[in-house]
This record gives sequence, structure tokens and C-alpha cells, in this order.
Amino acid sequence: MKTGPDQRKKKQIKKDLKNQDLKNKNMVNQDKTIVVAISGASGSIYGVRLLKELIESGCRVLIILSHAGQKVLAHEMGYDPGSSFLLFLEEYGVELGRGIVPEIFLQDEIASAPASGSFIHHGMAVVPCSMKTLSAVASGYADNLITRSCDVGLKEKRPLVLVPRETPFGLIHLANMTRAARAGAVILPPIPSFYSFPATIEELVDTVVARIMDHLGVVNALGRRWRS
Ligand SMILES: Cc1cc2nc3c(=O)[nH]c(=O)nc-3n(C[C@H](O)[C@H](O)[C@H](O)COP(=O)(O)O)c2cc1C
Repeated sequence: MKTGPDQRKKKQIKKDLKNQDLKNKNMVNQDKTIVVAISGASGSIYGVRLLKELIESGCRVLIILSHAGQKVLAHEMGYDPGSSFLLFLEEYGVELGRGIVPEIFLQDEIASAPASGSFIHHGMAVVPCSMKTLSAVASGYADNLITRSCDVGLKEKRPLVLVPRETPFGLIHLANMTRAARAGAVILPPIPSFYSFPATIEELVDTVVARIMDHLGVVNALGRRWRS
């Protein structure tokens, strides 16, 4: 293996470029406020990795957890619903110190900021989105903070990304997706891509997270883009 001065210089340049890239990304995203809801479908890792990327890239993030979402987080990722979700994120490896500390709400906190159209944000994602939450969004049944925030986002014409997870989809699910899409939501199912040769579950998940971030308008350098 070559380790001469030229190699070291090249390595240093690569490192500097990466740091500069991170700095630029944080500067661009600093003025972005994003709402992320985690509902009770399988695939909570998609929501957690999205949070990691948004927080570390400098966004202000408001997190809403449904009761079922907390249960699935506990089952799939070892989250203890009795303890702090911030602590869980930190233990998962989210570098909270690199960004703004996120605000966390439970589904019953219906009087919180994102429940009102007067609260300005740059987009919301429900990741993963259960069929129940999808159905509520599709029919305007705004009975908790997640479904109310989605409802408000649609009427205010803000980006709303739903990441519905179920398989197979039944006709009711498909009809609800069509209805939500017609109302302005982006239906982005967690279908990973393989052309960047992901080697770990995290890399596979991040192929979806990158597309969610694109639709939220958040600058990211996750994964490779096809032929660019
Ligand atoms: C471990 C586990 C996995 C689940 N996976 C799914 C799923 O993939 N999709 C789905 O629509 N519901 C799934 N459910 C059922 C939802 O959690 C349930 O319908 C719940 O009422 C959804 O509530 P929420 O939309 O308020 O979070 C799952 C439940 C559990 C406990």
C-alpha cells in the first residue's frame, strides 16, 4: 500500500473536501424546519435514520410519535417508551451536538405548534406511515397531532411525504394512497434501490431516506446518485 507524501496529501484534500461539504450542507439546511412523524408501521429504522440525517445536517426538527409508533420502536429498535426519545436517538448514534436539539411530541399533544397552519415549516414526512394513519390523512380525520399536522400541511400546500408500509397493499390502501396523492401528498413507499450496491441494512435504508430528503427539499449527500 502506498503511504508516501503524495498519498497523504491526497487523503488530506479528500478529508478537507468532506468537511467543507458538511459545513456547506449545514449552512444551506440551517433555515429549514421539518416535521417528522413516526407511526406504528413496521420499519421504524427509516424514521430514525431520517431523523439522524436531518438533525446532523442542521435542520430544526419537530418529532411526533404515535402510541403504536412507540410500540414498534420498542419492538424493532429496543426503544424504552418510558424513557427519553432524545436519549434513545443519542444512543443510536445521532450526533445531537452537530445541530439543533429536536422537539418531541406525542400524538395527544394536539395543541402543539404543527397542529396550526400558522406555524411555518418546510415540509412533513410520516415515516413509516401505517395504513391507519394513511386512511386518516386520506379522509381528513384529524384526530391526533400526526393526522392534524398532515391535514394542515395539505391545506397550506406544504410538502407532505407519506412512507406507507404494508404488504401486499389491499384495494382500500391503494385507494387511500390515490386520494392522499390527489390532495397533494407524495406517496413514497420504503422500496430501497440496489444500484449503489448497499452493503448494510443502514445503507439500504438510506437509499430511501435520501429520496425522502430530496422531496423535503433538504440538501443531502446520502448515497450515490445515478450517473452524477
Ligand atoms: C410490530 C408491529 C408491526 C406493525 N406493522 C404494521 C405495518 O407494517 N403496517 C401497518 O399499517 N400497520 C402495522 N402495525 C399495526 C399498527 O401499529 C396499528 O394499525 C396502529 O393502530 C397504527 O396506529 P398509528 O397509525 O396511530 O400509529 C404493526 C403493529 C405492530 C405492533
